[in-house]
Amino acid sequence: MSDMLNSPAGGCGSGNCACKSQAQARAGNAYFDDTDYGTPARHADVDVTLEIDGQSVTVPAGTSVMRAAIEAGVNVPKLCATDSLEPFGSCRLCLVEIEGKRGYPASCTTPVEAGMKVRTQTDRLQSLRRNVMELYSPIIRSTASPAPRTATANCRTWRA
Ligand code: FES
Repeated sequence: MSDMLNSPAGGCGSGNCACKSQAQARAGNAYFDDTDYGTPARHADVDVTLEIDGQSVTVPAGTSVMRAAIEAGVNVPKLCATDSLEPFGSCRLCLVEIEGKRGYPASCTTPVEAGMKVRTQTDRLQSLRRNVMELYSPIIRSTASPAPRTATANCRTWRA
């Protein structure tokens, strides 16, 4: 119980900050889990047990590999996935290796299967993710540069 009260979900830790009471209000109690599980929760009568990076995890059938990983405490990199949207597998940053499967499926769009063995951290995956990010870097640079100028311009406007 004390872990729950001391978690970041209970606020930033500052005694006077409003975030703690806002988090509590959203949760309707003293505990609010703000973890983004990458894909929406699934509800099923059947549970599926699989292994992710050597850890066993049991989740409802239909759950994504990404969500199962996060529920197992394994963080998979992601850009386009969030638990408030159905996954669409656009960024390819969440690639994983699945024993017995060819290629590198996106964990956000791949549903769990019983007995699946998933690896989320290998040298090959790191290399693929680095390549994906290099493809995005010109886009990130071109969209990131104007923002400070715009912000500066807005500040000047507000001050005038
Ligand atoms: S998070 Fe973007 S494809 Fe999975």
